[in-house]
Amino acid sequence: MNSITSLFKSSLGKKFVMAATGLLLFLFVVGHLIGNLQVFGPPELINGYAHFLQSKPLLVWGARLSLLLIVGLHIASAAQLTVMNKEARPVGYAAPSAYGSTWQSRYMLVSGLVILAFIVYHLAHFTVLLPGINGVGDFRKLEVTLPGGDKGRNVYAMMVLGFQVWWVTLFYLVAQALLFVHLGHGLASMFQSLGFRNYVWWPRIECFAKAASIAIFIGYAIIPISIYMRVVGREYADQVRHEVVATTVAPTGKEGK
Ligand code: HEM
Repeated sequence: MNSITSLFKSSLGKKFVMAATGLLLFLFVVGHLIGNLQVFGPPELINGYAHFLQSKPLLVWGARLSLLLIVGLHIASAAQLTVMNKEARPVGYAAPSAYGSTWQSRYMLVSGLVILAFIVYHLAHFTVLLPGINGVGDFRKLEVTLPGGDKGRNVYAMMVLGFQVWWVTLFYLVAQALLFVHLGHGLASMFQSLGFRNYVWWPRIECFAKAASIAIFIGYAIIPISIYMRVVGREYADQVRHEVVATTVAPTGKEGK
């Protein structure tokens, strides 16, 4: 028991926690992307998928709490490793950047912080549906009747209305660019921490990290871009916009004259 505790207190143990939590977050990002790409199909496709998830509260809350724990562990071990590295090398490197470090590795902290800020905004935008932060109206009013007759969230409408707003699309693109930077380095160092760094595997791992981070960037970025360019959902957005935009007209004082 003592040896397990001391392992997790060591930098090796913390690197392992970072790698294991990073792997789980990567799997979530891939799964979430596959779910979101359904926006390129008819509205019923992504709405049916969202309803399927919402109708399994145990699964949804289990996943939410696990994600919270995983993100917490990932950030805590990153912070502890940064402190340990600083303590081990109180005087910085003579050169501006450590030998062998890639440009992506130098932006891990800043990219991680922007992704965290993005997730907070993203939850308010599409999960909590906080009115006033989407630049359109009140997304809580959007409802759809599903084939079985049940009422559900109109996720398709939220997406096609949400990404017609230029600054929302821009913020999502910036966050996805930083996710690309973070994954480009994080995926490779994850395999290194899990013990795969050798002459045979390392070139393949670097290649995989590059390809996966580029594919994820393209996959996520293509959604807001095609909605903003009105290639996806333009007519649907025009049909449902009145449901979320306040239609009360301010009194002019000339009524009844
Ligand atoms: C174009 C990019 C993205 C789109 C269109 C998108 C879309 C959505 C939508 C529509 C929901 C709400 C689903 C529902 O209510 O059923 C959601 C939830 C969520 N998204 Fe995204 N997402 C994007 C990128 C990301 C990224 C990059 C991450 C993480 C790094 C992320 C993490 C989450 C999380 C944690 C939730 C909350 C799930 C829950 O608790 O219900 N999303 N997303």
